[in-house]
Amino acid sequence: MIKRENAAPDTEAVSIQWFPGHMTRTKRQMEKCIRLVDAVAEIVDARVPVSSRNPVLHQLIQGKPRVILLNKSDMADPEQTKRWLQVYKKQGIPAIAVDCRSGRGLNGFVPLVREVLRDRIAAWEQKGMVGRTIRVMVVGIPNVGKSSLINRLCKGGKAAVADRPGVTRDNRWFPIGKGFELLDTPGVLWPKFEDKVVGEHLAFTGAVRDEVVDTERLASRLLEALLPVYARAVCERYRLDEAAVAGKRGDELLEEIGKNRGMLMAGGVVNTERAAAAVLDEFRSARLGKITLERAET
Ligand code: G4P
Repeated sequence: MIKRENAAPDTEAVSIQWFPGHMTRTKRQMEKCIRLVDAVAEIVDARVPVSSRNPVLHQLIQGKPRVILLNKSDMADPEQTKRWLQVYKKQGIPAIAVDCRSGRGLNGFVPLVREVLRDRIAAWEQKGMVGRTIRVMVVGIPNVGKSSLINRLCKGGKAAVADRPGVTRDNRWFPIGKGFELLDTPGVLWPKFEDKVVGEHLAFTGAVRDEVVDTERLASRLLEALLPVYARAVCERYRLDEAAVAGKRGDELLEEIGKNRGMLMAGGVVNTERAAAAVLDEFRSARLGKITLERAET
């Protein structure tokens, strides 16, 4: 339980304990594999399009044509998703919104890759390489939906380990129809965890395991982050008075939510741990509504 009566609002982001992992190894693996593909498909979480990107991907892909898949769009604010697509368009990166769990939007994937490779495909055709296989590397931070994308697109779900130079057990190819193959990210592409806001946003979405964070503080911080834009959704779901929530601290809101839900312990004390678990779970499953935490500036 958190007790911070009369305390000033806690503006410090929740610290995430994390381990940088093997970025050096990933970098080496990426350098090897990038030569084997024609384009890169970067998967981004539509709820946190900034935090869910690897900060050095740009260097790692060494100028390969790239497309962006704004995934988990079923849980993101549709208005914001539209705006993010405009942002990528302005940056010259073809992008689509998808839901790799249901498959919604994925029929736009192959045309999107063809669009980014249009000139190359024309050049291959001029050289007589009509129908040359297009190879795409799927990249993204852990939990962003890479396996879901591959499973959805690769009907048989089987990896084809082709007899081809540079192909090892670490780089598995997935055929997704005639003349099109996907390669899973070699290694782990970490997000920019050293940035506290990034760590916190990824913890909100569940991309960081809850064992490594203080969930009550995390839920309090989430409520504070949601109020400026999504007060109505929060108040409706948790039966809070919309006129009275402005300026309240997250821990106070959590207490009210626990009370409203009847989450009480002996002596009538509110079980804020349970309230925190409920808030996090309902945000992560979009029962709180379609929410985007990082807003596009167009
Ligand atoms: P990864 O390979 O990049 O690590 O991610 P993965 O596909 O394993 O997806 C991580 C979690 O995100 C999975 O949930 C998956 O179902 C979910 N997910 C992926 N894409 C979408 C999407 O577009 N919308 C929604 N709502 N969820 C998505 P999980 O709970 O870990 O597994 P499961 O319960 O679905 O089996």
